[in-house]
Amino acid sequence: MKILTSPGAMRAWTREQVVLGNKTALVPTMGFFHEGHLSLMRMAAQYADTLVVSLFVNPIQFGPNEDLDRYPRSFTKDCELAEGEGVEVLFAPEAGDMYPPGFQTTVSVEHLSRSLCGADRPGHFNGVTTVVSKLFHIVQPDCAVFGQKDFQQLSIIRRMVQDLDIGVDILAHPIVREPDGLAMSSRNAYLDADQRKSALSLSKGIALARSLYTDGKLDTAVLTEKVKKHILSYSGTEVNYISFIDCSSLEPVDRADQETLVALAVTIDGRVRLIDNGLLAGTG
Ligand code: PAJ
Repeated sequence: MKILTSPGAMRAWTREQVVLGNKTALVPTMGFFHEGHLSLMRMAAQYADTLVVSLFVNPIQFGPNEDLDRYPRSFTKDCELAEGEGVEVLFAPEAGDMYPPGFQTTVSVEHLSRSLCGADRPGHFNGVTTVVSKLFHIVQPDCAVFGQKDFQQLSIIRRMVQDLDIGVDILAHPIVREPDGLAMSSRNAYLDADQRKSALSLSKGIALARSLYTDGKLDTAVLTEKVKKHILSYSGTEVNYISFIDCSSLEPVDRADQETLVALAVTIDGRVRLIDNGLLAGTG
């Protein structure tokens, strides 16, 4: 596996692949790989001849009081894991190469970036769309894989690619979970044993919403109250949002149906913010 750190070297590699007639898939990540990331890599490998994974803890998608400095990192282990998945290039640039002095251009998907996590984390999605469009320009992949764990992020990237005529196919991978239901996340590393129990409130909250929906409870105000009460019954939990939204438009709905997704963000002990989501009519 090649480890490339400069955007110029990455671009040169891509040009060679184009000459060779190879199709390239990209999986953008912030590292500290878990089975969710590795599943995305396996999926991406099926859609192309060569697989590039980017590993970059993107400073501009973190707010001033967020966890940029303590975000978990383990470069050596990540390299081993990526190599084990047949990754051909790990692109791991330095922040100074991605955002050199004088950098001032951003990409913003206006409306979709305002709700849910966007309301909680102002500027976050502009940071994501800016870095992902830079990665698309540097790597020039034919396709890129994103996880449904970050459902809003996936919708925003799809919109960006469509609006800006970026010729990259966006593929979605279902949420990968621990055996007890917790959605895998690099941020789960922050949890101690008690907080880990409270973290289950998210997937259990989704399970509760699904069972109420199956029982014919469709009024989302009622569903929201019940899910909220359930989540707050776990120690140290604080609800950032619980939203019942249309899975295409991400607009809130009053009455749940087949297309309704429940999306939630919960902070544990004021320190660890976790997100999860699921279609009410789904299982994953
Ligand atoms: P990161 O949190 O490292 O996630 C990288 C990719 O893995 C994203 O597409 C995310 O949705 C996916 N992923 C993470 N946990 C998952 C799980 N349990 N199941 C399925 N997919 C999962 O998301 C980012 O990085 C960044 O915002 C990035 C897109 C790289 C831009 O900086």
